[in-house]
Amino acid sequence: MCGIFAYLNFHANKERRHILEVLFNGLRRLEYRGYDSAGIAIDDSLSPLHSTSSPPPLVFRQAGNIESLVNSVNQEITNTDLNLDEVFYFHAGIAHTRWATHGEPAPRNSHPQSSGPGDDFLVVHNGVITNYEVLKETLVRHGFTFDSDTDTEVIPKLAKFVFDKANEEGEQTVTFCEVVFEVMRHLEGAYALIFKSWHYPNELVACKRGSPLLLGVKELDQDKSNNHVFKDAHFLSKNDHPKEFFLSSDPHALVEHTKKVLVIEDGEVVHLKDGGVSILKFERRNGSSRPASVERALSVLEMEVEQINKGKYDHYMQKEIHEQPESLTTTMRGRLIRGGGSRKPKAVLLGGLKDHLKTIRRSRRIVFIGCGTSYNAALASRPILEELSGPIYREDTAVFVSQSGETADTLLALEYARENGALCVGITNTVGSSIARKTHCGVHINAGAEIGVASTKAYTSQIVVMVMLALAIGSDTISSQTRREAIVDGLLDLPNKVREVLKLDEEMKDLAQLLIDEQSLLVFGRGYNYATALEGALKVKEVSLMHSEGILAGEMKHGPLALVDENLPIAVIATRDACFSKQQSVIQQLHARKGRLIVMCSKGDAASVSSSGSCRAIEVPQVEDCLQPVVNIVPLQLLAYHLTVLRGHNVDQPRNLAKSVTTQ
Ligand code: UD1
Ligand code: BG6
Repeated sequence: MCGIFAYLNFHANKERRHILEVLFNGLRRLEYRGYDSAGIAIDDSLSPLHSTSSPPPLVFRQAGNIESLVNSVNQEITNTDLNLDEVFYFHAGIAHTRWATHGEPAPRNSHPQSSGPGDDFLVVHNGVITNYEVLKETLVRHGFTFDSDTDTEVIPKLAKFVFDKANEEGEQTVTFCEVVFEVMRHLEGAYALIFKSWHYPNELVACKRGSPLLLGVKELDQDKSNNHVFKDAHFLSKNDHPKEFFLSSDPHALVEHTKKVLVIEDGEVVHLKDGGVSILKFERRNGSSRPASVERALSVLEMEVEQINKGKYDHYMQKEIHEQPESLTTTMRGRLIRGGGSRKPKAVLLGGLKDHLKTIRRSRRIVFIGCGTSYNAALASRPILEELSGPIYREDTAVFVSQSGETADTLLALEYARENGALCVGITNTVGSSIARKTHCGVHINAGAEIGVASTKAYTSQIVVMVMLALAIGSDTISSQTRREAIVDGLLDLPNKVREVLKLDEEMKDLAQLLIDEQSLLVFGRGYNYATALEGALKVKEVSLMHSEGILAGEMKHGPLALVDENLPIAVIATRDACFSKQQSVIQQLHARKGRLIVMCSKGDAASVSSSGSCRAIEVPQVEDCLQPVVNIVPLQLLAYHLTVLRGHNVDQPRNLAKSVTTQ
């Protein structure tokens, strides 16, 4: 979804070429979130520090990918003889990737959105302004004309309106921050915003409510040895040390520049000026709102630059599928107790939940909330939670499952659950995300950055965390101890089993070759692997753009059987568990109707599931039933990946999809 990025260099000579490259690279780091247009704004010429205005900035906007924006900027540079070598001692640039919600992808709908002719105020926005129509009517009455179909355009126009009014009224010079405060007072909805204005050269103001926003700070002092004596205050207070500031909706765009970040909170307005950062909080009290200054400390980004590179792989999705043995190991690191003799049982330790387990156990219900793949992961883990949690009572526990921790629909449910007094537990991959911060407690899945839009390693890590959650909840029940210990053993060996199943890569590529021209693929699953059927089908349709449907095998006779013929490929998941004999009977019935079958079975079962050798069998290692979905999804992830490459589609950024859906 929409991504924002800004780069401000202070007391540091940077050529225009460099500034453009930093902005474009920032946008490239946001690409994975999904977008359909992009834009940037830079200064036309250097404005001396403390000057009260500068020439209007240069704004470039383009529909399509970042490279088409880069090309159009290069074209414009050639046409206008813009000097790329020009050096800026100070400069504030803003950039944006847009995922169309209001209005088609087109330059006029791309960001930065402008206050009008002269570009007095420019804004990049992530989120949705819900009251934009009312604001637009008012602004039109005051003589503003609108050029875009976006909800965002009201924001820069409102800023100009506020600025002009303050000047007309002859108030003492209004600060940039005050303008933004006043604008914010009128906005409803979810947003993260960055403002740039030639009335305030070399300054940027950012604010947020609902959508994520981070500030990164990089000190450029030559004498690095002194760094350890600098406290956060040094980084944030006004001083003449050369430094760079970065603002982004996404840590991926910051990590290559700095790990020192400030997670901006809802209602905060961050003002970058004269080498310092001031943070004011927007607080509503007794119907009126007043700004209060806030002290904040920087935190360290827990992310490595390597995580955002493809390494030896062609695509992120491929890399993320193959790194599952390692990501699962990190998910479980420090959380499994191997036990020792009869005294110390095998168990799990979830640091983020240990103080809340009693409350969870005493809940009336445990409700899981998630979208897309996260929903499927919760579905995959439901049976073991039901089995191990035993009867529960009293109030509700709501568990929010989200890779990004920013999904708008999930966040709305979180607000509802909090307001209604439920204990809110998060299961997320993103430390510092909205869900991680707004839940009462939770577990980070620690799967590492996931860049491919189609979620793969986060899915398997989510399941593992939910199985560990079931073990933790059930840990006070003697009757299930043997079962729990078997699961702990299974977890310890799971990365090896995933390593083994990844060897099916070539076989899945061959299968993809056979299916390349098909219109549709059905996937039948049951019990623990109903979720695998849904998730496998989701992967196939998301990236390879082939229709695919996951179907509960028990429903086969109630409709889907009508589709069966010699042509339609059907995958049946029939690994060994309590549902195995039922799945065998499904295979026989499909076989009797000459169905074109692909059967996923446990190692050694190929002959028994495909007696006449008529089905294509995929043999996978057998593991504890509740962990089998982790193993079984891998061949389907590989199939989806290869189908996509062979069909010539974009693996990491499938059309129309966004990694993190931050609007409703
Ligand atoms: C934590 C540390 C980890 C360290 C370990 C040592 C963090 C992020 N993790 O891991 O680096 O090695 O202690 O014991 O500092 N939380 C939520 N909502 C969520 C997710 C988590 O509120 O959606 C809370 C948890 O309740 C907990 C904190 O965030 O208070 C950290 O959670 P988690 O990283 O899962 O805890 P540990 O595994 O103990
Ligand atoms: C989007 C993504 O739809 O959001 C999916 O394209 C993802 O891959 C879903 O599963 C939920 O996202 P999250 O971050 O809340 O797990």
